[in-house]
Amino acid sequence: MGLIPQDKIELVKDANDIVDVVSGYVSLKKTGASFKACCPFHTEKTPSFVVSPAKQIWRCFGCGIGGNVFGFVEKAEHMSFAEAVRFLAERRGISIEYTDSGKPELRDQLLKLNELAAKYYKYVLESETGRAARHYLSQRGINAESLARWSLGFAQDSWDAFLKYAKTKGYTEQLIESAGLIIKNEQRGSYYDRFRNRIVFPVQDRNGKYCAFGARVTDKSLPKYLNSPETQVYVKSRILYGWPQAKAAVSESNTVIIVEGYMDVVMPHQYGVSNVVASMGTSLTKEQSQQIKRYAENVKLCYDLDKAGINASIRGIDVLIEEGLNVSVVVMPQGCKDPDELLVKKGKDAFLEAVNNAKDIVEFWLEAEKTSAGTELSGKIAVVAKMKPVINKVANELRRKGYIETISRKLGLEERVVEKEFSKEERSYSAAAVKGQANPAARERVCPPAEKELLTLILNSAEAAGRVCAELLDSDFTDNINAVIFSEIKRNIAERGVLDHSGIAAALAGEAAEAFTALSLDEREFAGQEKAEKDLVRHIMNNRIINRLKELEPEVKKVGRSEYDKNLVNEYYQLLRRLKGMKK
Ligand code: UTP
Ligand code: MN
Repeated sequence: MGLIPQDKIELVKDANDIVDVVSGYVSLKKTGASFKACCPFHTEKTPSFVVSPAKQIWRCFGCGIGGNVFGFVEKAEHMSFAEAVRFLAERRGISIEYTDSGKPELRDQLLKLNELAAKYYKYVLESETGRAARHYLSQRGINAESLARWSLGFAQDSWDAFLKYAKTKGYTEQLIESAGLIIKNEQRGSYYDRFRNRIVFPVQDRNGKYCAFGARVTDKSLPKYLNSPETQVYVKSRILYGWPQAKAAVSESNTVIIVEGYMDVVMPHQYGVSNVVASMGTSLTKEQSQQIKRYAENVKLCYDLDKAGINASIRGIDVLIEEGLNVSVVVMPQGCKDPDELLVKKGKDAFLEAVNNAKDIVEFWLEAEKTSAGTELSGKIAVVAKMKPVINKVANELRRKGYIETISRKLGLEERVVEKEFSKEERSYSAAAVKGQANPAARERVCPPAEKELLTLILNSAEAAGRVCAELLDSDFTDNINAVIFSEIKRNIAERGVLDHSGIAAALAGEAAEAFTALSLDEREFAGQEKAEKDLVRHIMNNRIINRLKELEPEVKKVGRSEYDKNLVNEYYQLLRRLKGMKK
């Protein structure tokens, strides 16, 4: 997905009032200048979630998070930033174009054409032409509800039925080809339908738009499935089949079950297990893992455990573990090669039992490796070396330790030795850093109260902000985050001439964004505001000068004894004069 132009982002932000948007999720109560509610992101009895209509930002003083309208939607809808922008654009009927992924009209046209195709194939399946295909599907146990839920269709046995149909609807061959629905015969210079005499599984993107198709033969001919090629609207690495239908259940159960194929998604859903999606026969990507992470922490891989399936499971671990997901592997009972078969043969309980007995990925992996490792020490060491880079990506220290313990036990090696092997290289995550992230209380920063006070003051008054920005430098703030916030306030005022709180919140990220919303929503009357402002500015400047003087002192001491840097010594005396001037 390409970049959304900044002015579009602004437009979308302005079109979506934060109170209006948040009201769709929690009921807000007006208290003074702002609105309050119980936080939708954690359980609480007394409201600590605040929305400011004037500043167009929100913050939960309980869990310590906050931001502007995009940040809220990201959190509430489990979306990425770009998705949140799109979501809010659609909410207000604004069309979004991307700067680098082709003309907007093309994307939209492709999606429209795919929608037409999905409807067409569905119509054919329901028509007389689809009789045999319907029979095939019912033989496989698919009921009417599933046909509708997945918009299953049939591409008839014809070289150009869809091509002709799409042309009557005004689509050009060129566009139909870029959607991957027809293929050019280079010799004849003519086009023919890609999908012929096959059951069609339309694939939807995260927003439920039809982006591609998979199509299965109804007999033993090969290839069993034909798929759309990648197109402007189908980037395979981003798509999980069944996501729109599964996401609510994924979020609710905090678990996603990942299967290989179309049928392995359709069947569990039909049996009432809805947190199932498919990676469509390929190993998982980082983008898919990130997508999952926004909804759930637990991943159950449910692949065919033939050689290819085992490899796919193991290849999936890296990216999943890096995202901090709990990964386990579902082993199919004897005689059932995939979830579809298991459900049809043995029913829902047998499937749920297999899912509940999922094996931890590390144990599973070890077992797969152990067979090839043999009993020799060198073989075991090779296994440890192979697993080390992956296991060391486990951010949770307890879990990582647990894995090392498992590895030692299973390989019959002393834990102390394995532990040592694992700590030989720098680990990519420090346990402390991760702890800090998970625990909001640990995020409380110790920072100079005067800096905090002054930032609060200027965020309450655009006039004061203008004055202070002219007086202080970013570097006058000793606390890094304060400096970043101040710099952003300054830029905001310089660019717009007003204080746009939601704009500042958007420009900041992570800890700085969180600290900013706290300051911004700390709406207070400052007694003797002008004096308070002057005192705080002076205090901060003083501090900074005193710090700098300390830094310069050793240079000044050199004067008359050895070579010294004249510039630094000059700076020292200038600062000293400034300090004395201020103290008056
Ligand atoms: P499988 O061969 O396991 O098929 O491929 P399946 O899903 O169990 O299908 P049924 O039960 O025989 O109908 C798993 C997945 O790999 C992809 C498809 O996404 C398929 O669902 N695949 C498989 C292809 O893309 N092309 C193929 O030729 C075969
Ligand atoms: Mn199958």
